[in-house]
Amino acid sequence: MCGIVGYVGRPGAPGAAAGGGAAVALEGLRRLEYRGYDSAGIAVVSEGAVAVRKRAGKLANLVELLDADPLPAAHTAIGHTRWATHGGPTDANAHPHVDGTGRVAVIHNGIVENFAALRAELRESGVEFTSETDTEVVAHLLGAQLERTGDLTEAMRAVCLRLEGAFTLLAVHADAPGVIVGARRNSPLVVGLGEGANYLGSDVAAFIAHTREALELGQDQVVTITPDAVDVVGFDGAPAQGRRFHVDWDASAAEKGGFPSFMAKEIHDQPQAIADTLLGRTDAGGRLQLDEMKISEAELRAVDKIVVIACGTAAYAGQVAKYAIEHWCRIPVEVELAHEFRYRDPVVSERTLVVAISQSGETMDTIMAVRHAREQGAKVLAICNTNGSTIPRESDAALYTHAGPEIAVASTKAFLAQITACYLLGLYLAQLRGNKFADEVADVLAQLHEVPGQVRQVLDGLEQVREIARYMADTRSVLFLGRHVGYPVAMEGALKLKELAYIHAEGFAAGELKHGPIALVEPGQPVFVVVPSPRGRDSLHSKVVSNIQEVRARGARTLVIAEQGDTEVEPYADVVIRIPRTSTLLSPLLAVVPLQVFACELATAKGLDVDQPRNLAKSVTVE
Ligand code: M6R
Repeated sequence: MCGIVGYVGRPGAPGAAAGGGAAVALEGLRRLEYRGYDSAGIAVVSEGAVAVRKRAGKLANLVELLDADPLPAAHTAIGHTRWATHGGPTDANAHPHVDGTGRVAVIHNGIVENFAALRAELRESGVEFTSETDTEVVAHLLGAQLERTGDLTEAMRAVCLRLEGAFTLLAVHADAPGVIVGARRNSPLVVGLGEGANYLGSDVAAFIAHTREALELGQDQVVTITPDAVDVVGFDGAPAQGRRFHVDWDASAAEKGGFPSFMAKEIHDQPQAIADTLLGRTDAGGRLQLDEMKISEAELRAVDKIVVIACGTAAYAGQVAKYAIEHWCRIPVEVELAHEFRYRDPVVSERTLVVAISQSGETMDTIMAVRHAREQGAKVLAICNTNGSTIPRESDAALYTHAGPEIAVASTKAFLAQITACYLLGLYLAQLRGNKFADEVADVLAQLHEVPGQVRQVLDGLEQVREIARYMADTRSVLFLGRHVGYPVAMEGALKLKELAYIHAEGFAAGELKHGPIALVEPGQPVFVVVPSPRGRDSLHSKVVSNIQEVRARGARTLVIAEQGDTEVEPYADVVIRIPRTSTLLSPLLAVVPLQVFACELATAKGLDVDQPRNLAKSVTVE
């Protein structure tokens, strides 16, 4: 999830920003840095040329570069802050990217799914690449189109028709001062409307300091902005119109997309996080293709055990994945807290695949476990959200989640993206080792592609959960029960409530209740129960329904998460929270969402800072 800004102004016009293009772009990037911060760059059009400055690392590094080597004065500028997907966070991979002539510059947010094929085609025609990014492909394609048509808008339209995946693109050309062309598919782009100046941004935070009048672009549209005009066409060339709106947020709310906190925004962003993590994982024939999987097929076929190492929420994602991977691949999977792993002399060998899951890629406990596993001869695969971080760098292979930066300390969208990535891994192994036929893999993938829409449905129906959370602001203890994949979901629900609302919370395997925890239940005790689908294994559903009855009989207040149409739970539930029907293995991606919203809302009702809970750090870099 990168940040994008564009600015064109007529010098002296009422709305033109003082300081010129580079200064406006830099200011926009400061406000967008929350979207990604592993490198940044700016391009301006000045005196018939494009000038670019870019630098890996935080924005401060780019500022240092600009101080040492300023950009020329210009009134047309594009800027980019990056969250790496294709290619590590280096100077060369930073945006903007230029074509072979250096006369067209491009910035990009998203993933071009067919970039490998396009890159091969361009290479054959003699193009030399200077980065590992998918974006550079677009720069070269645009350059070639411009040679043919000479028109940046037409060139952009033609190029977009060749791209698959999700993208927001902005481009400038040396021969077109005062023009920026943007395009979007499955990725956001907003136009800021000024007087004698116009803006582009991946969200309104990019230009909120200059204008509050904005235009939202539709799907598959190309926009051309000059200081005095905004023209929109569809990818098919038909004239189109965006939706105009007035922004009444202040700058800090704008960064959060109008949500009261980064946490609320990140919960809302989860459908996109899952969709982006699924993007670009199949070849033209629909076969699962994990390009980043750099462990040989022979080694993966020989794997006789998988050990997942992770901490906190990432470890719960691993626990969910265990059920799916064992079921699909018939390989035993152990899930171990990373800080426990190396102190118990674990049995690993060169036939063990260790999967290290980490949002940040910098969790010291997980780093140490990765090192230990490799010393023992195991192959390590990192599932990570942060390109270029220590854990993927030190692993044999990496599978990146594409959740975008997670700013709130408590993890939400990374959790769903981690489960999604683990499922891709499980299906890939099942395909490779012949545990599943191609159509079976395709069937599960198709179900996974439906999940973003289903999560959106869950999010749209949670007013009741919010009300309950506000009403329960004084609650002192909440229990969470689940079975099978619902068990790690219950533990994640409890963790969210502990860390956000500072309320005592425990997640239990529902079957374990009778072995002790049921003693905690007294009249009025709130108990969340994650119920498996009644369409799954019969006994599982009816066993959990019995567990609800057991706690209810002892006075518990039962809050039951059940799929639509499950009427059996109704007699024993004080509250039923509905989630759409999906397969048992995919249900955690839906069932955890109400629990996240509950914790976030309850903590907010208590007046707590949900983005930075007390005593916690986003990335735990000590053992
Ligand atoms: O960056 P990582 O995924 O390695 O972080 C792991 C845990 O520290 C993290 O999930 C932590 O438990 C969060 N506070 C959960 O919300």
